[in-house]
Amino acid sequence: MVHKPAVNLPAPAPALAEVPLPAVPKREPLSADEKTAAFAALRERVLACVKCPHLVSSRKNVVFGVGNIDAELMFVGEAPGADEDVQGEPFVGKAGELLTKIIAATGLTRAEVYIGNILKCRPDTPGQSAGNRKPRPEEMATCLPYLHEQIDLICPKVLVALGATAVEGLLGKTVGITRLRGHWQEYRGIPLMPTYHPAYLLRNQAMTEKRKVWEDMLAVMEKLGMPISEKQRNYFLKA
Ligand code: URA
Repeated sequence: MVHKPAVNLPAPAPALAEVPLPAVPKREPLSADEKTAAFAALRERVLACVKCPHLVSSRKNVVFGVGNIDAELMFVGEAPGADEDVQGEPFVGKAGELLTKIIAATGLTRAEVYIGNILKCRPDTPGQSAGNRKPRPEEMATCLPYLHEQIDLICPKVLVALGATAVEGLLGKTVGITRLRGHWQEYRGIPLMPTYHPAYLLRNQAMTEKRKVWEDMLAVMEKLGMPISEKQRNYFLKA
């Protein structure tokens, strides 16, 4: 009889769609001070996180999130890239500059919204001198509880998921972003608009693609009851 050696293999990572979303917490609304303290405590926990040893050893900074913790509008991206890793702030590289312009086009500023990511650490790219990689399902499943807590505390009126990874993380849906964008979804009672990631717009500069993202933002502005000028309505439409 052959005895197999006992090997402690890690449990296979569950598919994200099988990881149930936490229930919406039933609690009294927090006072402003309690909310600030809870957010600061969450930030401390996230900055000290060592759950993914491979990412801990490659990261320069944990990228927690940035913006107004009372924001009505929250953007969720995929994961920090090289620039974000160095600066410890989401969306500060080329894609971030474009996101900042998109936010400005709505009449809001970066400081008025909240910006976070599915993953708080830059996905490592050993042996690769440049570029990014998509977060792995087990990395997403490990990090997502932090994002759920962020959203619970901020309690935005509208979420915007930037790209397929953000949609997959928040909704567990792997439907292509091309089919999903522009169609309202719901994340634990919060309306969620999926749209293209700004990095996609940098790769595909076609006016038609810019207009699609802008139409998604117009829908978001409408949902938030924001004023929309005629000029804003017509951005990226051919003359
Ligand atoms: N892309 C993302 O999805 N998030 C960032 O923070 C930067 C680039």
